[in-house]
Amino acid sequence: MKNGTIALCRCGGSTTKPFCDGRHSERGFQGAERAVRDADT
Ligand code: FES
Repeated sequence: MKNGTIALCRCGGSTTKPFCDGRHSERGFQGAERAVRDADT
């Protein structure tokens, strides 16, 4: 992950909620696409 980037847990399995700790891959969670930052609004 790049410096200055945070990830919020969407799978519900993180032990460091609300942040993602990478456990989603162990759970087989699909949906890891990133949100797109809208720089023009
Ligand atoms: S999305 Fe839940 S641990 Fe990564």
